[in-house]
Amino acid sequence: MKRLSERVFSTGILNPNLRVFDVIMRTEFGTSYNSYVVRGSEATAVIDSAHPRFAALYAEELEAALGGAAPAYLIVNHTEPDHSGCIAQMLERWPALTIVTNSVAAKNLRNIVNRDDLPLHIVQDGASLSLGDRTLLFRLAPFLHWPDTMFTYLPEEQTLFPCDVFGCHYCEPGVLDTHIAYPADYETSLRYYYDCIFGPFPGFVQKGLAKLADWEIQRICPSHGPVLTKGCRLEAALSAYAAWSAPEPRNAKRIPLFYCTAYGNTRRLAQAIRNGILSIFPDADAPLLDLSDEDPDAMGQRLNESDAFLLGTPTINRDAPPPLWNLLARADAVNLAKRPAAVFGSFGWSGEGPGHIALRLQMLKCAAFAEPHRVCLVPSAADLEAARDFGAAFAAAIK
Ligand SMILES: Cc1cc2nc3c(=O)[nH]c(=O)nc-3n(C[C@H](O)[C@H](O)[C@H](O)COP(=O)(O)O)c2cc1C
Ligand SMILES: [Fe+2]
Ligand SMILES: [Fe+2]
Repeated sequence: MKRLSERVFSTGILNPNLRVFDVIMRTEFGTSYNSYVVRGSEATAVIDSAHPRFAALYAEELEAALGGAAPAYLIVNHTEPDHSGCIAQMLERWPALTIVTNSVAAKNLRNIVNRDDLPLHIVQDGASLSLGDRTLLFRLAPFLHWPDTMFTYLPEEQTLFPCDVFGCHYCEPGVLDTHIAYPADYETSLRYYYDCIFGPFPGFVQKGLAKLADWEIQRICPSHGPVLTKGCRLEAALSAYAAWSAPEPRNAKRIPLFYCTAYGNTRRLAQAIRNGILSIFPDADAPLLDLSDEDPDAMGQRLNESDAFLLGTPTINRDAPPPLWNLLARADAVNLAKRPAAVFGSFGWSGEGPGHIALRLQMLKCAAFAEPHRVCLVPSAADLEAARDFGAAFAAAIK
C-alpha cells in the first residue's frame, strides 16, 4: 500500500515474475495489478480490484489503505479479470458495497461473478458520484480495449484513473514514475503494451484522448505499471498515445508479397506478379519477402500495415508450410477485414496450399481477389506472363 495523497492510496499488487500475459503478451519486466482507494469525507471508493491469484495479498493491502473504514463503492472501470477478479470476495467481506459501473461492464460482471442480484449502480457517460469532499466523474471509453472500458476522474485532485490506458507491464518496487530505475525498459514496455492492447484500435484511442481534453490532469493512475505524475512522465505518455494513434500520411501504396519456396518456383511467380503490380502502381512499395529469411514479428507488422498484400505458398504434404501460418497468426483480425489480398503458389500434384491459405483469409474477412493463382511445378514463360497479368489485374482492382 502506498499513499499518493492525503485521500488517495495505491493498493496495487506487484507481480515481477510474470512472463506471459493474456496468452499473447511477453512480460519480460513482470507486471502490477493496480487498484486505488479514494477516501472522501462521507464515503470511500475502491477503484478496480486485482487478479484473483493474489486475492489474499490484495485483501491485506486494501484493509491497510481503508484504515478500518468499509468502502461504500467499488468502481469498475473494466471487467477483465486482472482487475475484476477479487469482486466476489469483496462482496463477501463488505455486503453493503455498491458496484458502480457502466451497463456494458455490468453485463460482463453478471457473467464473471455469476450472480443476478449484484448491487449495481449503473452510470452513463458524464455521470458523477459524490464521496463528500471528493467527487468521481465517469466517461465511457469503449474499446480501450474492451467494449466496457470507462475513465474515472477525481477533479479535486486532478487525478485520472484510466484503467489499462497509459499502463504497461512493468514492475519495480516504487509505485511512482519518479522511482523508475530502468527508464529504457519502462519505455519499451509502454510502447509494447500500446501496440498489443491498443494498436488495433487507433480510432478509439483518438476518441478516448478527446474525452480527456477538458480535464486538467496532474496524476494518472493506470491499472498496470507506474503512476504517472505531471513533470515526470505524464506529459510524455499523453503525447506518445496521441502520436501512436494518429493516422499516418501515406504516399506510395504498400503491397508486400510474402512467400515461401523450397525450389524457387513460388518465388518466380512472386517476381512476375510483382512486375504486374508495378505496371499499375510504378511507385508501389511492393517488397518480395521470403518468410524463411525474415523476422516473423517484423513480417506481421508489415502485413498489418499493408494497403493490400499477397501470399505465395508451395504445397507441402497437402498444406501450406508453417511460415505462412505463423505470419497469419500475427494478423490483426480487427483491421484486416476488407483488406485486398491474393494468393498464389507452385504445386506438384494435389496443390492444396493456396486454397488453405485462401480459406484463412476468408476467416479474416479479407477482400480476396479471384481464385488463388496456381502453377504446376516450374513456371513456363507463358505461366510467368499469366502471373504478371494476375498481378496487374489485382493492382487494377484496388486502384
Ligand atoms: C516435402 C515435400 C512435400 C510435398 N508435398 C506436396 C503435396 O502434398 N501436394 C503437392 O501438390 N505438391 C507437393 N510437393 C511439391 C511442391 O509443391 C512442388 O515441388 C512446388 O513446385 C514447390 O514450389 P517451391 O519451389 O516454390 O517450393 C511437395 C514437395 C516437397 C519438397
Ligand atoms: Fe484489460
Ligand atoms: Fe489490465
